[in-house]
Amino acid sequence: MRFVPAACLKSGMILGQDLYGSKNELLLSEGQVLTDSEVARICGLKYQGAYIIDVYSQDISSHGLISSNLKNNTVRAIKEVFNQVKSDDTTGPLPSISGIKFLINDIVDEITTNQNASVNMLDLKVFDDYTYYHCVNVAALSIVVGAASGLTKTDLYQLGLGSLLHDIGKVFVPKGLLEKKGKLTEDEFQEIQKHSLYGSEYLRNKWEIPIESNLVVLSHHEKYDGTGYPYKLSKDKISTFGKIAAVADVYDALTSDRPYRKAMPPSEAMEYVMGGSGTLFDPRVVSMFTRKVAPYPIGTCVTLSNGLTGIVVENYVNCGMRPKVRIISDPHRNEIYDLYNDFSLLNVTITAIAEI
Ligand SMILES: [Fe+2]
Repeated sequence: MRFVPAACLKSGMILGQDLYGSKNELLLSEGQVLTDSEVARICGLKYQGAYIIDVYSQDISSHGLISSNLKNNTVRAIKEVFNQVKSDDTTGPLPSISGIKFLINDIVDEITTNQNASVNMLDLKVFDDYTYYHCVNVAALSIVVGAASGLTKTDLYQLGLGSLLHDIGKVFVPKGLLEKKGKLTEDEFQEIQKHSLYGSEYLRNKWEIPIESNLVVLSHHEKYDGTGYPYKLSKDKISTFGKIAAVADVYDALTSDRPYRKAMPPSEAMEYVMGGSGTLFDPRVVSMFTRKVAPYPIGTCVTLSNGLTGIVVENYVNCGMRPKVRIISDPHRNEIYDLYNDFSLLNVTITAIAEI
């Protein structure tokens, strides 16, 4: 399968991955031939695009970090938790998070069972449910980086729980501010920044979660050089788990469509993360992140510096910038460029994401 941006989807294309609606219901199934109205539905939900299968990509497969079932269950559960917190008036019943504790353990199990788990697929979100998909992605990305760093299962659970809840404090910030398209005033910016404190305080007062998880909520916007918030902590004064979640949070946000900007391709978001190593982010976390997250996920269509177009078919852990690429612009060539191993291709580089 290969990824096709929403603007390039057409009727007659065959879907390569299940797509879900705004209530997490199965909208379209893998293998389905798209009609005009289904393309319109995908665009109506503001999906960035979809994975399709065609003659060039029918033998290319990839999968998300966690199974669709587990992902959808967790999205549904965290949505419920956000809604419970929103409606909580301090006199009512306390929200329950027992459900998401089980789901986090399942995510840890799925990721640690697959030692080679890496991010090799673009994550597609229903635009209006960004917050909940984002929470689940930040948890999964944090766990995969934590697992690669040798954390124990208990640590991964605490990291995952904190990451899943990292933005719970946004419930207490006016929605209009969070989605404002124009420039924020200084006061508005300060109000938004309070979400990490609001979230941490709420969890401390209402729920029993491990302190390490709470620290993720509190410190996911601290920066390595001490310019973050709320406490301007730097380097090893920031919780280790908070530093992992900080990278996962920024990466997932950058690769998602937002009301005020379009999504960046993973390669550009990765460049941003790498550029922030040692200033915004802990270099050790960035180093592990770049090993586990492919800048050109499998199924990405790319343009090469020699003018040819191809589809990424395989990635190398140690060199994500130099994947294996199947050339499709000249079908008679039926050629695969191994940019990492083939020294005759050293002067060929990926120059752009091809929108086809
Ligand atoms: Fe946040």
